[in-house]
Amino acid sequence: MIDLRSDTVTKPTPAMRKAMAEAEVGDDVYAEDPTVIKLQEKVAAMFGKEASIFMPTGSMGNQVAVKLHTKPGDEVIIEERGHIFNYEMGTPSVVSGVLIRPVKSKNPNGILDWTDIEPALHVDQPYYACPTGLICLENSHNLAGGTVMTGEQCTAISNNAHKLGLPVHLDGARIFNAAATTGESVAELSKECDSVQFCLSKGLGAPIGSMLLGTRDFIDEGVVWRKRFGGGMRQVGVLAAAGLVALEESPPKIEQDHRNARALAEGVADLAGVKIDLESVQTNIVIFDVSKAALSSNEICGKLEAEDILAIPFGTQIRMVTHYDVSHAEIETTLMKLNEILK
Ligand SMILES: Cc1ncc(COP(=O)(O)O)c(C=O)c1O
Repeated sequence: MIDLRSDTVTKPTPAMRKAMAEAEVGDDVYAEDPTVIKLQEKVAAMFGKEASIFMPTGSMGNQVAVKLHTKPGDEVIIEERGHIFNYEMGTPSVVSGVLIRPVKSKNPNGILDWTDIEPALHVDQPYYACPTGLICLENSHNLAGGTVMTGEQCTAISNNAHKLGLPVHLDGARIFNAAATTGESVAELSKECDSVQFCLSKGLGAPIGSMLLGTRDFIDEGVVWRKRFGGGMRQVGVLAAAGLVALEESPPKIEQDHRNARALAEGVADLAGVKIDLESVQTNIVIFDVSKAALSSNEICGKLEAEDILAIPFGTQIRMVTHYDVSHAEIETTLMKLNEILK
């Protein structure tokens, strides 16, 4: 099976499984799990933030951040294709009582700049407007095709937000992919953000887990809200151990995933009825449009599945994501099968 649905489908490597089997553990609700503590300290140092907390999922990390930064009735500004808005089950409104104010980026790559955000702000407005409580950014930007924001772009937005007393949360589910593209460290990419969430379970390949980072006070409150969300876990060092290995083992492999995505995108660009913006392919995500093809995206994915290749259809588009469990040879096989299906 060539599974290109997402980078969440990776299986733990032998080193991860060994570390999981041998992990020292304790009850993490009592903050007594030495492996979790080690992971949290390592991650905080890596990002240059005061503290971090191990979360079961990226969604929980993002939503705890939204909860901590806002109060009910606030608005949260986010690019219109942002994950927190589109794929987290309306949790900002259900749990935090906030409104999402989606904004369009002038650049089709979904990367916001301050001029996209500023007109949507409600700061010091009369009583009828919900005050802006938070700005959420996403790097890499999943639905825009894995596009990347530089540290400079992120810092510019954060500095402007801070002048108005507004916090910035970065959904960096795939920030290590962004780092591989810009050549910056994850600390540089998130330097002025008040909080950051990133996933161990995506491009880094750990089986489970995400990290939320911020100030010590923010993370102490995050512990309380993680418990309220049902995310207080016990001997979870068995999972944190895989995360520690992922942080060592996986970043060097990401460049190959990006080369595979580029080869896939360039191959797809030559196929009949396919439209792809090659500039949007900056990391490990390849999204292409098949509205001019003889078959629908569902039909194409159905035919691919019959050939043991999995991809995700949405609307007239298909998404394929590379990761360390897909080789370059498998990308070539995928292109060959796609060509047979589309010609
Ligand atoms: C950009 C982004 N943020 C957050 C998440 C949520 O992560 P999880 O599936 O661990 O809840 C995802 C998942 O695909 C994502 O792509």
